[in-house]
Amino acid sequence: MGVQRVAIMTGGGDCPGLNAVIYGAVRVGIEKYGWEVLGIEDATNGLIDLEYRFPKGNQWLTLESVRGILSRGGTILGTSNRSDPFNYVTTGPDGKETTVDVSDKVVANFQKLGLQALISIGGDGSMRIARKLMDKGIPIVGVPKTIDNDLASTDQTFGFDTAVQIATEALDRVRDTAESHDRVMIVEVMGRDAGFIALHAGIAGGADAILLPEIPYRLEPLAEMIAARRAKGQTHCVIVVAEGAKPLGGDASVLEHKAGAMPRLVGAGTRVAERLGPMIKAELRVTVLGHIQRGGSPSNFDRILAVRYGQSAADLVAEGRFGHMVALRNGAITSVPIVEASSGVKRVEAGGQLVQTAKAIGVCFGD
Ligand code: F6P
Repeated sequence: MGVQRVAIMTGGGDCPGLNAVIYGAVRVGIEKYGWEVLGIEDATNGLIDLEYRFPKGNQWLTLESVRGILSRGGTILGTSNRSDPFNYVTTGPDGKETTVDVSDKVVANFQKLGLQALISIGGDGSMRIARKLMDKGIPIVGVPKTIDNDLASTDQTFGFDTAVQIATEALDRVRDTAESHDRVMIVEVMGRDAGFIALHAGIAGGADAILLPEIPYRLEPLAEMIAARRAKGQTHCVIVVAEGAKPLGGDASVLEHKAGAMPRLVGAGTRVAERLGPMIKAELRVTVLGHIQRGGSPSNFDRILAVRYGQSAADLVAEGRFGHMVALRNGAITSVPIVEASSGVKRVEAGGQLVQTAKAIGVCFGD
């Protein structure tokens, strides 16, 4: 007998298009394959503890429950970026956080629920967890998510296009103030250790400078560029700073690193402003876009990509091709082994075509 009961969950940070993947996978799963589909709440939290209700608990998904969700931001299943069952964070009686391995509970609960497959929608962390859960016998198909676009095995993750669109629009808006007040406006964007959002939005939004994690910066070239523009009567300047940007010889600006979580990157834009301020004549302001880049309705591109990913993930489950993640390659949906997908990250190529294009049109990278 083939697969009949499939779980679906979203892990890591929320991302525009998560609901569109759920929509695609659930519709195909129910209509084409006749499955029962269980939505797991808050990443693996709903499998670690079957009594977990924060706020709803796991839910059987129907055509009715996914109606109208395609265009909605966030995830109807909830998510978490601190639910790695192999390093699960618990708080001891002394109030200190420690991590424990609760992966056996996930396997036991998966079996108890009569599930035969799991569709895991997430980024690099979720794919690493998926790989380890597969080793423990859970049949998994992965779907690549993240606004950062830093997963190596796919040309694009869903969510990235929307984030770039939001950041581009923000640059357009900030330029109005820059021009009106003759100011240097710094816009800090997300992306963690990858500069894709900064690079793409910076080019699309006509930024004068783009600082990326992949190209350590010096402030002197920035100050010179601003002075040269002023000398030509261009009294404003727009600078995009990736949250993971680092000065030459320095580190990214990390606020904290909690157990079981990625380091929190905060302050890259402010750091540039504080140090660049004394080197230039213009007034400076900093805008941190933050989670605005992750919320709201997905772009058309992301909606379509997400639905295609969802459909394809359901097909992979039906074909019994577990251990694979759906991926986009040269415009076509394909699949790659999760082992491969979870072992490589993608970064902006410092000498790549897009950086060269930006340099050719006069964008300063601080290098
Ligand atoms: O990975 C997606 C992302 O939005 C990164 O760009 C950012 O550094 C991080 O998540 C922020 O995570 P949190 O929502 O936990 O602060």
